[in-house]
Amino acid sequence: MKKIKLLTTVFTFIIGITFFSACGGSNTSSDERNATESQNNTTKEVTSEVLDPDAKSDSKGVGRFTSVDVSPTIDKEMATKGQAVFETKCTPCHKTTADKLVGPGLKNITDLRTPEWVMNMITNPEEMTKKDPVAKALFEKHLVQMTFQNVDDKQTREIYEYLRQNDKN
Ligand code: HEC
Repeated sequence: MKKIKLLTTVFTFIIGITFFSACGGSNTSSDERNATESQNNTTKEVTSEVLDPDAKSDSKGVGRFTSVDVSPTIDKEMATKGQAVFETKCTPCHKTTADKLVGPGLKNITDLRTPEWVMNMITNPEEMTKKDPVAKALFEKHLVQMTFQNVDDKQTREIYEYLRQNDKN
């Protein structure tokens, strides 16, 4: 009889401990989760306060294009050539609407950026995402590194003309 009583006490004690630690455990992990979440929110706020990658910028970027002449009217022949290059080399990652694919949608890009910046981004994307604050913020947002698509300077200018035409429509 005594033995049974002792066993019951031990049993109750074990159940008690198990129950207590189960509750305690889950509280701790949800606290930890809350802590991590609020940390993430803080990081996000700080990044967007520093630079909004989708805001207009007058930076010329980093690369060999320091001054690009752009006429007020669109050179249609140039834009058509640019479109052909764009469709083979850029459409895997970019739409000409505002919608994101792998990279940002390029609608209104010629209003948001200078011609020099766009052409430096096309020919020198890896240095741009390291050194230019806007390109860096874009990389932090899209988390894929744009790579150079083997376009020469003439094709780069033609692509720019095509993007200009796309923004006028
Ligand atoms: C492998 C996918 C990929 C390809 C191919 C690619 N891009 Fe990109 N592009 C990106 C990503 C991702 C970004 C955002 C910056 C980053 O993360 O590197 C970007 C950024 C840009 C930007 C800046 C957009 C902005 O909002 O300021 C322009 C302009 C651009 N790309 C043009 C082009 C053109 C033109 C081509 C073709 C010659 C091209 N890209 C090919 C992925 C790509």
